[in-house]
Amino acid sequence: MNNNGIHRKKDSARIVWDSKPRRAPNPKDIEFQTAEVVIPNPETAGQLPMSFRDTLIGEEELDKQKMNRLIWGDNLLAMQALLNQGYEGKINLIYIDPPFDSKADYSHKIKLGETEFTKEPSVIERLAYKDTWAGGTDSYLDMLYPRLQLMKRLLAPDGSIYVHLDWHVGHYVKVMMDEIFGKDNFRNEIVWHYPSMSVTKSFFPRKHDTIFRYVRSNERAYFNPESEFAREKYAEGTIERSKYPAGFNSDEAEYLKRDTKLSDDVWTIGHVKSSKELVNYDTQKPQKLLLRMIDSSSKEGDLVADFFSGSGTTIAVAEKFNRRWIGCELGKVGIQVARGRLVEQKSKPFLVENIGNYQREMIYLGGVRIYEMQKIILKLYGAEPMANRKDLGVRLPAPRHQNYFVYAIRCDNDSIYIGQTADLSRRWQEHCEGKARWTAAHKPIEIIHHEEFATRAEAEERERWLKTGFGRKWIKRELKAGRLKSWNQSMARRAGQNIDGIPAPQAGRELVYCGYPDRAVAAHKVEDLAIEATTLDGAGYKRLVILAWDYEYNYDELLQTRLRPGYGGRARKASDIKTEIISRQIPPDIYEYLKQAKSKEDIERLSDKVKFLEKPYLKLKKPEVKGNSVTIGIEKYVLYDFPLGSGKKADEDREALLHLVKDNFAILIDYWAVDWDYDGLTFKSQWQDLRGLGRKTKVVTTKKEHTFEKTGKYMIAVRVVDIFGNDATATIDIKI
Ligand SMILES: C[S@@+](CC[C@H](N)C(=O)[O-])C[C@H]1O[C@@H](n2cnc3c(N)ncnc32)[C@H](O)[C@@H]1O
Repeated sequence: MNNNGIHRKKDSARIVWDSKPRRAPNPKDIEFQTAEVVIPNPETAGQLPMSFRDTLIGEEELDKQKMNRLIWGDNLLAMQALLNQGYEGKINLIYIDPPFDSKADYSHKIKLGETEFTKEPSVIERLAYKDTWAGGTDSYLDMLYPRLQLMKRLLAPDGSIYVHLDWHVGHYVKVMMDEIFGKDNFRNEIVWHYPSMSVTKSFFPRKHDTIFRYVRSNERAYFNPESEFAREKYAEGTIERSKYPAGFNSDEAEYLKRDTKLSDDVWTIGHVKSSKELVNYDTQKPQKLLLRMIDSSSKEGDLVADFFSGSGTTIAVAEKFNRRWIGCELGKVGIQVARGRLVEQKSKPFLVENIGNYQREMIYLGGVRIYEMQKIILKLYGAEPMANRKDLGVRLPAPRHQNYFVYAIRCDNDSIYIGQTADLSRRWQEHCEGKARWTAAHKPIEIIHHEEFATRAEAEERERWLKTGFGRKWIKRELKAGRLKSWNQSMARRAGQNIDGIPAPQAGRELVYCGYPDRAVAAHKVEDLAIEATTLDGAGYKRLVILAWDYEYNYDELLQTRLRPGYGGRARKASDIKTEIISRQIPPDIYEYLKQAKSKEDIERLSDKVKFLEKPYLKLKKPEVKGNSVTIGIEKYVLYDFPLGSGKKADEDREALLHLVKDNFAILIDYWAVDWDYDGLTFKSQWQDLRGLGRKTKVVTTKKEHTFEKTGKYMIAVRVVDIFGNDATATIDIKI
């Protein structure tokens, strides 16, 4: 009570910032999609928890709630979805280590052989980075506040939350946690001290992080002071003195009879150095640090979660110490590293799930009409939607003045040089005069092919493709069939003199198809479109571009089969389908763009940013069956785009990578897994091979033998994830 007899509030201090959200986020009805059920150890396969979906027909389904889950996507949505699925009050321990280094970005280093490449961040990662840091401390607090509110709801009545921060924002967040969790529920401010060398001269070396521990309920919180990992040995001197109890009171003397004590709140633990533990992830934390928190604040069988799981340290420790766990991470590299760690330590079966596709759900939830969305996507790709067909558009050749050329030159030794330029005429001259580096050693004969593109990026992409084995084969085939756009001989001859006439652009129009968000594009659909494209609008289209959210499982394989002459009784001649087909992916974060694309100008502005990358290609070898055994293998994995950014260094890296890949495509593979008995629905990976978590620069094997216990027909599924996080799948049918 103050002097006027009015009650004064206690503890009403709050952190306030301009954009502080007024309302807490609610649970959301979002489904997770299972990308993979990983079974690192065949002996634990029997532990997959099943529930009966429909007792009448006896169909069994995985009981996801009982499984450990590694979720790829934004943790805000993941937590909203978990709450909606009954996880309220179910998590016994949460540890988070949100990004707090404002300089850190989402680029990752990948080492292949002797060369190190930098993978540029995905758009989702870039957006998260922008959301977190663009508005300084305010946007950081905007990011963390609603997430902590959700974590409180997820926390069990006896649960603890540990929030790992440093001097950048730790002080703000502590005030925020007082507000969300209650000041009385504060338990510790742990100083994680990591001594190491430092050369700072203007301040004391900053060698500690801060970890706040709050509990859900002061009365019920679980804590085990006897945890052997939370205890430390006494200093030698203390033990010595304890033999002569003078100076210690009786309680203390009793305590000193034991040889360890509960650690205080300053923990000196070095950064990870041992190559056994290092996983090549910049912000990796030591297992020892996590073990202390997990073992003291949860019991065996409890559920532990890390919603900024990075390389998966928390879940790897939780797994080893028999806790159940949930990890969530936005970056694909983190997901890959974490899955790799769990596979290496032979974990119990776990799920890898997506909410990356939540964008798709948002489109439905947002009441966007599908055909309007298709129209915008077509426009973002630069195509004009057709008046009478909702899912088709036409992309015209770009206007002359902004063209880039991709060209192929035949040289005297019959080799083919492929290049890209904004001024074909001048470049040809340079080649003829021996000024271009490559052709200095090979006499150029003629430009056998050229194509035009609106932007340099597109031209570069096409150049990369033409340089692959497929591209070169395509050139040879088209050359033979006389279908290439050659720059005629007389022009080539004239090029020695000063020519200023550039070849007239004839780059064909493209027919562009935009898929539906709820359906994977199937090979038969593309075959139909390709047949239609040959005659559509009178002249037909030479190129068909597919923009899809997803492709059916065996798309590459099936499409190739379907395009073969005479396929499936359609009695087609080789010349029936002349259309070149390019299959691209609609970027998973398209929803963000759709939200922004309101006017024609918006779309024009955005169309430079949205990249529709070409789908990777996976081909399996013909399986070899011997008795009950089968050997399967990867014949080829082709990646058309490398997300290495732009600039001189990126260009050099790209060349270097192309060179490495030419000799051995397997270096691109980070992880591959096999389901020996695929049910057509859920991929259960029963065998995995890994590149080795970046520690070793091992290349995966490309073959695997398996013995079946029972004879019968099986569908084998293979899933490949490359070093950039793309994945591709294929299946084969066998009879044992
Ligand atoms: C400091 S790191 C965590 C490192 C981790 N403790 C370890 O030992 O590897 C922070 C991680 O949070 C992830 N992240 C950032 N924003 C996120 C979000 N909204 N949802 C999920 N993960 C996020 C980042 O990709 C990054 O990997």
